[in-house]
Amino acid sequence: MHAIGIDIGGTKIAGAVVDQLGSIVASERVATPAGDSALLEDAVVQMIDSLRAGADEEIVAIGVAAAGFVDAAQSTVYYAPNIDWRNEPFREKLEARVGTAVVVDNDANAAGWAEFRFGAGRLVSDMVMLTIGTGVGGAIVAGDRLFRGGFGAGAELGHLRVVPDGLACGCGQRGCIEQYGSGRALLRMANEIADAGGIGQALARARTEHGGLDGRLVGGLIESGDDGAVAALRQLGSWLGQAAASLSAVLDPQRFVFGGGVAIAGELLLEPIRAAYRDHLPARGYHPEPDFVIAELVNDAGVVGAADLARVWVAEHA
Ligand code: BGC
Ligand code: NA
Ligand code: ZN
Repeated sequence: MHAIGIDIGGTKIAGAVVDQLGSIVASERVATPAGDSALLEDAVVQMIDSLRAGADEEIVAIGVAAAGFVDAAQSTVYYAPNIDWRNEPFREKLEARVGTAVVVDNDANAAGWAEFRFGAGRLVSDMVMLTIGTGVGGAIVAGDRLFRGGFGAGAELGHLRVVPDGLACGCGQRGCIEQYGSGRALLRMANEIADAGGIGQALARARTEHGGLDGRLVGGLIESGDDGAVAALRQLGSWLGQAAASLSAVLDPQRFVFGGGVAIAGELLLEPIRAAYRDHLPARGYHPEPDFVIAELVNDAGVVGAADLARVWVAEHA
């Protein structure tokens, strides 16, 4: 029972043939075509065709993980803050072209599901995952089930408001945690620290040398222990810890899992998250403390989860 998982990100599209134990049998990766949703669709179809051509077992389903609000039928992307999709009937379009059952899911839901089934969440019944990349994605597993909400678009945790009338967000609102806890937010904070001088000197130098800061530069400085870059990461972690404290009041998970590109910072990210969580937890001192861990499947979580969710869907609708 092999399924294909496709993870559409802002910079790359990843695809894989995945077996029922969550192991990747074959995989591919291409850059996301910029700006044009027809080119994006073509790239996904091409990847599916090529993965299927190389597969030695029948592909029972195709799961697509997309960075947006997805409907309850796992078919249509209602809205994507960082892609130009509005009510995009992606499942219907793809099925017409590939002739196999397609299931569309939110990218973070797919990643969270993969961690719950095969990774960092497999020993708990209730977990929350936050993916820290271009945006902030969310996944909720409650009582061993993936939570979707009544219209499918629940667990959009990146759009939890943490600052009344704060920074404008791609969702059309202001003050969402996505603007304070994402990879983009980290770059903004790093730039602010660079502007201020003092501990920002190495960041400022890197910025001048390379004509701007990017994730790789800031990540490198964090790794080398630069005070300014680490301070930016601590600010980010503090926001995420505050959001996690509020999420505990609603969901009370045993474990928070952090994934996405920024999570490679590991303990350096988790430490300020834990500290802010403790400071902001309702009933602090009397509420059992969940664990805060980094995702185990790292870059593969999206494709593995999308494939598994597609397989589950096909089994339930057989
Ligand atoms: C979107 C989510 C997505 C997240 C991570 C957010 O901006 O609203 O649907 O899961 O980014 O890609
Ligand atoms: Na989600
Ligand atoms: Zn938002």
